[in-house]
Amino acid sequence: MTHAGAGQPNASRHLLTIEGMSREQILMLLGRARQFKSALDGTDRFPSPLAGRVVVNLFFENSTRTRTSFEMAARRLGAEVVNFDIPSSSVKKGETIEDTVETLGAMGPEVIIVRHSAAGVPALIARHVRGSVVNAGDGSHEHPTQALLDALTISEQFGRIDGVKVAMVGDILHSRVARSNLWCLGALGASITLVGPTSLVPDGLADVPWGGGRTARVCHDLAEGIRGADVVYLLRIQTERMKQAMFPSVGEYRRLYGMDSQRLSHAGPKAVVMHPGPFNRGIEISGELADSDRSLILRQVANGVPTRMAVLATLAEGARR
Ligand code: CP
Repeated sequence: MTHAGAGQPNASRHLLTIEGMSREQILMLLGRARQFKSALDGTDRFPSPLAGRVVVNLFFENSTRTRTSFEMAARRLGAEVVNFDIPSSSVKKGETIEDTVETLGAMGPEVIIVRHSAAGVPALIARHVRGSVVNAGDGSHEHPTQALLDALTISEQFGRIDGVKVAMVGDILHSRVARSNLWCLGALGASITLVGPTSLVPDGLADVPWGGGRTARVCHDLAEGIRGADVVYLLRIQTERMKQAMFPSVGEYRRLYGMDSQRLSHAGPKAVVMHPGPFNRGIEISGELADSDRSLILRQVANGVPTRMAVLATLAEGARR
């Protein structure tokens, strides 16, 4: 099988990373997401730019929120959705990723949405298909639509992102969500502190210029790291991406970095908590805090649909130009 179309992926045809996106591009997608959200909430009809088109969900890793909301978003825009089932596919007979996607690509999908445990697989796939590719999370690299829906949620809560103080707590090292948010929220002018043990939040992260050329502060003490924060953004410990144990025990992690309502009082009086999910109750966040009115977790989930509609509609329009 030939690999027709191999080469650098066309950045305007795909959504592979937030890195490299301009502030204006991000704001445009957030504006469209707001429009779709208000159309979903009301009675306005919205266009069906994907009518008669096929969107393929190609998830090599498990997902609840991302896969479901991409499917809902694509259907809302008129697409037919194929949820490619890896366990029953010829991937299990040894077919390569390239040959699998060229096979799928030959059937002419408009968009392929890819999640994979290895960084760079969506970009690799983008070199092998004619349609658009959206990165739905690749290893510890990026999860662009999560960052966009998080930005939408923060802007709804505070009326702005510029100057909002965000403390991201937990496994930054392995987090594609953290990386995409550092690019996205940085580009939009948020001030970010990374909080956690040195094994998961290395001091060197403070030297990296993220979105807008902004650097993040690194702090290993929870109370100090979240002091004055508007948003405390909690992350799951991603044991599946660790080659060795990176902290003494789950109990120790919870004792030092687990968040509950009492500890949240170290942040600002109106501070809210966010989490991309899935979250582990009683480890990085207490059940009572996750279920409280300080938690935006379900609003993040709800914002996934209009945000992904904005991404799919924008890519579909770009592909036809
Ligand atoms: N936030 C997120 O990516 O969740 P899922 O793994 O359930 O898609």
